[in-house]
Amino acid sequence: MEPYKPSEDSVLLRNVVDSLSASLALEIGCGVGFVLESLAQRCVFVIGVDVDRSSLNQARLRLKEKGLTNFEVLCCSSAEPFKAKAFDLIVFNPPYLPSLTIEDRAVDGGEKGLEVTLNWLKECARVVKVGGKVLIISTSLSPQDELIKGAQALGFKIRRIASKHLFYEDLYAYELTFD
Ligand SMILES: C[S@@+](CC[C@H](N)C(=O)[O-])C[C@H]1O[C@@H](n2cnc3c(N)ncnc32)[C@H](O)[C@@H]1O
Repeated sequence: MEPYKPSEDSVLLRNVVDSLSASLALEIGCGVGFVLESLAQRCVFVIGVDVDRSSLNQARLRLKEKGLTNFEVLCCSSAEPFKAKAFDLIVFNPPYLPSLTIEDRAVDGGEKGLEVTLNWLKECARVVKVGGKVLIISTSLSPQDELIKGAQALGFKIRRIASKHLFYEDLYAYELTFD
């Protein structure tokens, strides 16, 4: 698996992150640290996790080269190692392409493109603080009504806060909160 090259979806997430701040933030699937860098510039401390060690090495280097020290990167799946209600802010740009099998973990999101997203949201519901926020990216290539229903079933309020039209799909950024 090659590290994911920051693309339009990464830029959309980074743009919405650019208006936020938090004490402790988590990025799930941080890749080479394109969004993590921006998070670290505006939060007290950030943690980036990914299953791909080569991506994490690049992320560590990227943030160090920017003089940032308020971060940790960790090789693990989703938010599994973290205790409940730990984070004020969680962000992710998941693998979201509809795919019958998961061959490339950087992009394949399961049959409807939502399986990884909904699994990660389940973890987010556990590790986000009451009053915290989750920001995610999704695509018109997968059924957005199912994403919204899945998020609501986990107890989140969900609203679309930004979108980007590309020639083959629309990208969406969502903000999720608890009541
Ligand atoms: C679409 S890329 C996004 C990378 C980066 N956040 C960005 O926006 O450019 C998805 C990332 O999720 C990572 N990933 C896939 N499955 C994962 C899992 N179960 N836990 C953590 N990261 C995972 C991939 O290795 C990849 O780096």
